[in-house]
Order: sequence, then structure tokens, then C-alpha cells
Amino acid sequence: MLSQSTQLEVKNLTTCFRTSKGNVMAVDEISFSLKKGETLCIVGESGCGKSVSALSIMGLLPPSGYVKSGSAIFQNNDLLLMTTKELEKLRGNRISMIFQDPGSSLNPVMRVGDQVSEIFQIHLNISKQEGQKKALEMLKQVEIPDPESRMLAFPHELSGGMAQRIMIAIALACNPDILIADEPTTALDVTIQSQILNLMSEMQLKTQTAIILITHDLGVVAEMADNVLVMYCGQVVEYGDVKTVFNSPIHPYTKALMKSIPIIGKKTRRLDAIPGRVPSLDMLPSGCRFERRCAEKNDNIVSNCQNKIPPIFNVDSVHGSRCWLEKGNE
Ligand SMILES: Nc1ncnc2c1ncn2[C@@H]1O[C@H](COP(=O)(O)OP(=O)(O)OP(=O)(O)O)[C@@H](O)[C@H]1O
Ligand SMILES: [Mg+2]
Repeated sequence: MLSQSTQLEVKNLTTCFRTSKGNVMAVDEISFSLKKGETLCIVGESGCGKSVSALSIMGLLPPSGYVKSGSAIFQNNDLLLMTTKELEKLRGNRISMIFQDPGSSLNPVMRVGDQVSEIFQIHLNISKQEGQKKALEMLKQVEIPDPESRMLAFPHELSGGMAQRIMIAIALACNPDILIADEPTTALDVTIQSQILNLMSEMQLKTQTAIILITHDLGVVAEMADNVLVMYCGQVVEYGDVKTVFNSPIHPYTKALMKSIPIIGKKTRRLDAIPGRVPSLDMLPSGCRFERRCAEKNDNIVSNCQNKIPPIFNVDSVHGSRCWLEKGNE
């Protein structure tokens, strides 16, 4: 049994793709838990497996992808074992998802009001008239200006920020237990980005929805997260609560990511890109996946770094790091 406030418990999720070069593992044994009202940020460079993790949990992998092992327990059921029908019942109802590009997620030939209303009609089994009423309320809640006339608009008539507000309205329409937001503000400019993030936080306070927020932006993490999962090359390399991870990062990759945050307001806008490249999934090193780019690899343990995949060493019950340098501190 999950503790009452735990909404989702993911254990050792491993996802592969069949490719022309053979099977590759895009997500390798990731684990985390998510509590009611909490925001977990998943952060890492492009290609590290953030979206594939989310798609695996939602049962939305493309045909070439498959979950190899692991579990994702939601309300005592394993999402990874559910049939498509069972998942469809949950999606948009108990678990919702918003993506980076709001334009492509909305139906271009359907009026905005009808799209929001449809969600209510399907999941609450109510009439079109009742659905429209609820849709209008929802548009007001997500602070769409002039909501009555926006109900009749088509998606192309909306700005990016407005379209993302509609997506949030759709995603939160049925008061989901979990919202998975995959780079929801990346396509928007900075002011709109922070408005959308504020809106998500405000809605979360009202609904106690647990949020998984996927981003490559540590600024967003600092603003939104309770807990953080840092991913590198398909693996979790560090996890912990946001204050600990920001104030005392342990993994050299997390530290390098921190250095790459631009410090706005300072004279020099520091932006150190991490040197080197992420290894390709079909040619993974046999040791630590970050070893070649690591600024801290240590001669004494370098053979470990090069030859053995480090496990996650727990610093304490809520903070851990996948680095051989932590071994001595165990
Ligand atoms: N359909 C696919 N076939 C083969 N490999 C795939 C497929 N989709 C994703 N991958 C691989 O899985 C890995 C993880 O991809 P994913 O999309 O999860 O990255 P991400 O962390 O979300 O990156 P981004 O920040 O760019 O969105 C990448 O190496 C990617 O190339
Ligand atoms: Mg992605």
C-alpha cells in the first residue's frame, strides 16, 4: 500500500527503443515518488530521457518504444501493466499531460470552448450545455481575457501564451491527481513563461494536484520545484529536495549544470556550457556515463569511474548521487 499522500511511485523504470542499430535503452532504472500537491522537476540536457520517462508512464510511447521493466504505481495499480483502454480512462481525467507546443496539441478545426467543454462532457458525463458552462468557468480561472468571445475562437486565433493557458485549462479540467508538464513554457517568451508558471502554481494550490515538471532550465526548477531529479544519459544522477540540490549539489554533472545558469543582473552573464558530448545510447561507456566530461574524476578511483557503473549512493534518506566520489562518504 502506498502512503496516503503518495500519488505515484515509480520504481526502476527502464525503457528501450528498437532501432536499426539494435535495441537502445533510453531510460535506465529511474525511480522516484510524487506526493499530493508536490512539484517534482525532472531536469537534464537534451536527449537524457525526460520525455521518454513521461511517455512511458502515460503509455504514450511510439511503436518502436517499449517498457522493459519497472513499475509505476498509481492508486495501488501499476500504470505500466494497464491496457490502452484503462489508461485512456485515466488520461485527461486522473492524470493529465501538457506539452511544449500548445498549438500542436489543440485541434485546429474545433473551437476552443468546444475543446474544453468536450473534456467535461466525456469525463463527467454531462450535457453539452453544462460542459460549455464549466468550460467558460475554467477559461476564467486560467485568466483568459474576454473568455466569452475566446470560447468561440479557433486555436490559430490565439497567441502561444493564450494557447498554453487553454492547454492548462484542459489539463486541469477534471482536477487530476497528477499533471505531467513537458517543457510547458519552452516555446514562450520569458514574461509569458513566468505568467504560465505562476498560473500552474496557483492552480496547484487550489487543487493539490501533484506536478511532474520537465525542463532543461534550472531557473524554472528553482522557481517551481519541491524535489528535483537530475537525469543524465537515461539515468538519474542526483535527486533531492530543491534547496539541498541547489545549495549542496554532489554530482559533478549537477554542479556543471549549475554553472551553466546565466546569472541575470550580474555584469558578466556567465554561461559555461559543459565541455564534451553526451555519449550515444548505442555506444555507452562501461563505467560512469559522465566520466569523459567529468571535472572531478579522481585518479585514485578513476578505474571505477571508467569501468563500473556507479550505483546511487544515498547521502541521507532524501538526497542521493550516482557518483563514485560519494563511495568514501557512505
Ligand atoms: N522513437 C525513438 N526511437 C529511437 N530513439 C528514441 C526515440 N525517441 C527518443 N529516443 C531517444 O531516447 C533518448 C531520450 O529522449 P527524450 O526525448 O526522452 O529526451 P529529452 O530528455 O526529453 O530531451 P529534450 O530536452 O530534447 O526534450 C534520446 O537519446 C533519443 O534519441
Ligand atoms: Mg523532451
